[in-house]
Amino acid sequence: MRFPENFIQEVVDRTDIEELIGRYVTLKRTGANLVGRCPFHSEKTPSFSVSPTKKMFFCFGCHAGGSAITFVQKAENLDFAEAVEFLANRAGLPLPRESDSFSAQQNGVSRKRVLEMNLEAAKFYRACLFDPAIGAPGMDYFKRERKLTEATIKHFGLGFAPNGFHALRDHLRRLGYSDDELIAAYLCARSQKNNNVYDIFRNRVMFPIIDTSGNVVGFGGRVMDDSKPKYLNTSDTPAFKKSRHLFALNFAKNCCAEKMILCEGYMDVIALHAAGFEYAVATLGTAITPDHARIFSKYTQKVIISYDADEAGQNAANKAMRILGEVGMDVRVLRLSGAKDPDEYIEKFGADRFRRVLEESRTGFEYKAERVLSRYDLSVGTDKIKASNELCGVIAEYHSPVEREVYLNYASSKLELPVDVLRNSVEQIRRKQRRESAARESREAQASVKNFGDRINPDAAKDPRAASAEESILGLLLIYEEYRNAVDEGKIELDAQDFVTDFHRRVFEAIMHLHRSEAGFRFELLGMDFTPDEVGRIEKMEMARQQLSQNGPEVLRSAIDVLRSTRERAHLRNGDLNTRLAYLREKNAKLHKGKADTQ
Ligand code: CTP
Ligand code: MN
Repeated sequence: MRFPENFIQEVVDRTDIEELIGRYVTLKRTGANLVGRCPFHSEKTPSFSVSPTKKMFFCFGCHAGGSAITFVQKAENLDFAEAVEFLANRAGLPLPRESDSFSAQQNGVSRKRVLEMNLEAAKFYRACLFDPAIGAPGMDYFKRERKLTEATIKHFGLGFAPNGFHALRDHLRRLGYSDDELIAAYLCARSQKNNNVYDIFRNRVMFPIIDTSGNVVGFGGRVMDDSKPKYLNTSDTPAFKKSRHLFALNFAKNCCAEKMILCEGYMDVIALHAAGFEYAVATLGTAITPDHARIFSKYTQKVIISYDADEAGQNAANKAMRILGEVGMDVRVLRLSGAKDPDEYIEKFGADRFRRVLEESRTGFEYKAERVLSRYDLSVGTDKIKASNELCGVIAEYHSPVEREVYLNYASSKLELPVDVLRNSVEQIRRKQRRESAARESREAQASVKNFGDRINPDAAKDPRAASAEESILGLLLIYEEYRNAVDEGKIELDAQDFVTDFHRRVFEAIMHLHRSEAGFRFELLGMDFTPDEVGRIEKMEMARQQLSQNGPEVLRSAIDVLRSTRERAHLRNGDLNTRLAYLREKNAKLHKGKADTQ
C-alpha cells in the first residue's frame, strides 16, 4: 500500500532514531553524532554513524545510509511500506487507512497472512501429534527414538504432519485461506499432473521455526525412518528467508548466557536445550552466512561451534569460524569424541560431561593446530616438515604480532623446532600473501571498473565529470530549500533534460516533485521511489556536500556549466548537419554579443 506523505513524515518524526538503531548496533557518542559497527557489512572498526538531529544514518564503509525507514528496510528485510508500518507500530501510530498490515506481497499474499497461516498450521500439527489416533507414530518417534520428554515437545511446539495429501489443506481452507495463499506460504504445492493442491509436509515430525518476535516463520519436517529426503524445509516465502534465521534463537536470546552454541541440526539444539544449554541455536540446513554472523553479533560476544564430528562437519566448522571471526566474534570450537554430534554425545555421556568439554573449548588456533598435528607422525622427518609448513600457514593468518608470537611458541614446543626458524617461515608466508592480495585487489578493482562499473548509476562511467557535477548539484538541492525554490521559480535554469545520467535525473525529478507537492520535500520520502541502496547513494551525495565549503552558488553555477557543455558536445556529435550548423551559428552570435558587451 502507499501511505500518505504526511503520515510517513509523522512516523519518522515520532521515531527516536538513536533508540531504534541502538537496538541493533552498540552506539557510542562522538560530538553530535553516534558511531558503531555497521550492521550491514562486516567490520571490526566502527564506520557507521547516526545523526539524531538529522535523523539519518550513514556508513562510510559500505555507503549504506538514509532515514529510519531505510534502516528498518535493510535491517528487517522489509519493503518501504512495511518498514513504515513497522515504525508506526513501534511509535503507537494507528495506520491511516484500513490496511492489510505487513503488506509484503508475493503473488498478492502478504507476510501477515503467511504468518497467520503458519500459526494455524503449527497448531494443527501439534494437535495431530497429541491426537493418538493420528499422531501416535510421531509421538512414538519423539519419545522412544529421540528420548524427548513431553515438556520438551511442548516447549518447542513440535508437531506431526499426517500421512495424507490434504489434511492441512482442508483444515486451512475451512479457516478461509485460499489455495494460492497456501502455496505462497510453502505449506502446499500444486500438482503438475492434475493441478490438485496438496500438502508439502506429509508423514513427518514437524519443527516450527520461530523468529525473535514469536512469529512462526517456517517449518522443518523430518521423516521417522531412513527414507530420503531426511528433512524438508520451508523455502523462501514472504515471511521467511532461511539464511536469516537461526533455529531456537527465540529462546537463546533470552537466556542471558554470555555465549551461544552453534550446532548443525534441529535435534542437536533440542537435545542441548533439554539438557539445560538453552543458548544453543542452529542454522536451518544451510551453511552459516555473514547475515547469520551479524545476527549473532547482536546477541552475543562468544560463539562455540559444535558441529558434527565427521569430516564434512569439521570443514563446515572451519568455515563458520572464519565468517564469525570476521565480525569480531570470540569463536571457539568443540571437539567431541565418541559421538557423531552433540545430540548423541549428550545421550551417551550426559550433560555434565558436555559442560566440561564446553569449558575446555578450544580457541580457533588450538583447534586448527590440533587438527594439523593429528594428521602427521612427527617422528617422521617428511611429516614433520609438512606439519611445520601447515602450522606456519595457520599462524600467518593472524594479524596481531602478539598472537603470532604466542602461537609460534606453542608450535615450537610441539614440533621441537627453534622458534626463530618458524618465525622466519611465517614472515615469508605473510610477505607472499601480501603480494598476492595486493595483486588480487588491483585485479578486482580493474575488473569492477571495466565490467560492472557503478551498479547504482551505470551511466556514470561514460562521463565521470558530468556525473560528479550532477552529484554536487543534487547534494545542494538535497540540503537547501532556497536552491529548490530557485530551480522551481526558474531563477536557476536547470531541468531534468540537463542531467546526463539516468539515475541522477530520476533523483532530480523526485526531489523537485516532492518540493512541489503539498507535503514538501523531506529526505525520507525519497524511499518511496528508490531502493535502500539507491537511498544510501543519495545520502552519500548529501553527506559529501555537507562536508565541503559553503560557496554553494559558485559550485552550482560551475556544475551546471559542466552539464551544459556536456550536452552541447553530445548534441554536436549526434546531430545532423543542419542542427550542427545552426548550433555553431548560435554560439558564434553569443560570442560576438559577449565581445560587444565587454567592449
Ligand atoms: N538438513 C536438511 N535437509 C537434509 C538433511 C539435513 O535441511 N536432507 C538440515 C537440517 O536442518 C538438519 C541439519 O541439516 O537439522 C543437520 O543434519 P543432520 O545432522 O543430518 O540432522 P540432525 O538434525 O542431526 O538430525 P538427526 O539427528 O535426526 O539425524
Ligand atoms: Mn543428529
